[in-house]
Amino acid sequence: MATKFDHGPNAAWEALFAKAPIAAFKANPRFRTEFAPVFYRGRLDGSARILVIGQDPSTDEILAQRCLVGNAGQLVQGLLKKLGIAKSYVMLNTFLYGIHGQYDSAMRNVSASEPFLSFRNSLFDRVKATCTIEAVIAFGVGAHESYDKWPAGQTLPIFKLTHPTAKSGIGASWNAHLAGMLAAITPDPGGVQHPTPYVGNPGKNNRADIPRTDLNFGVPDWFGTGGTHSERGGTNDKITWSVT
Ligand code: URA
Repeated sequence: MATKFDHGPNAAWEALFAKAPIAAFKANPRFRTEFAPVFYRGRLDGSARILVIGQDPSTDEILAQRCLVGNAGQLVQGLLKKLGIAKSYVMLNTFLYGIHGQYDSAMRNVSASEPFLSFRNSLFDRVKATCTIEAVIAFGVGAHESYDKWPAGQTLPIFKLTHPTAKSGIGASWNAHLAGMLAAITPDPGGVQHPTPYVGNPGKNNRADIPRTDLNFGVPDWFGTGGTHSERGGTNDKITWSVT
């Protein structure tokens, strides 16, 4: 078992997370509310320079209680590594709970409505107020729209990338933004930028392990290094648990 781990949010973040509109999430059958909400991953101590916005937690995330730790998260971690970033980020999702099906027009309306919008913006606002953010990287349409609906964020450099689990176009999208991200983001001390573009869509070889310092005390060593796989949509919309 790893000796390094994330000790959790500080008091100010905890107080903000405690204001989450849990009842509103639970009242909407599109959310998977069997498990607890997933709030964040990464630095909440003011040292983040990159705000990563994702869509919604899946199986690995609800196990870890941290955003973007499964396959999608490991691809995002691989991109951060390419940018020379090992730790100076914070990750938040559009939704605190996983959604049934895909991000569609109904979920777009939910995302843009209260109390979801104001709560999410209050998290983004705290990131902006406590950190010197060099770039916002938003993965997927849901995340792009979350950014668009965040008034205080509109002055920050934004990179709207295709979601790492999209069916196609990920490599092209990430490559198109690579030079801009490399220019906007200062590598972490000792970090090396790797400007080589992706060949095709990023895959297993482009993943990076989730740092132990981002995970809870007690997670097994394999966690964040491969993860589970889930299928969504169709007539039998279930999360299927299988380690890949
Ligand atoms: N995809 C996301 O966008 N966010 C997560 O936390 C996990 C998968």
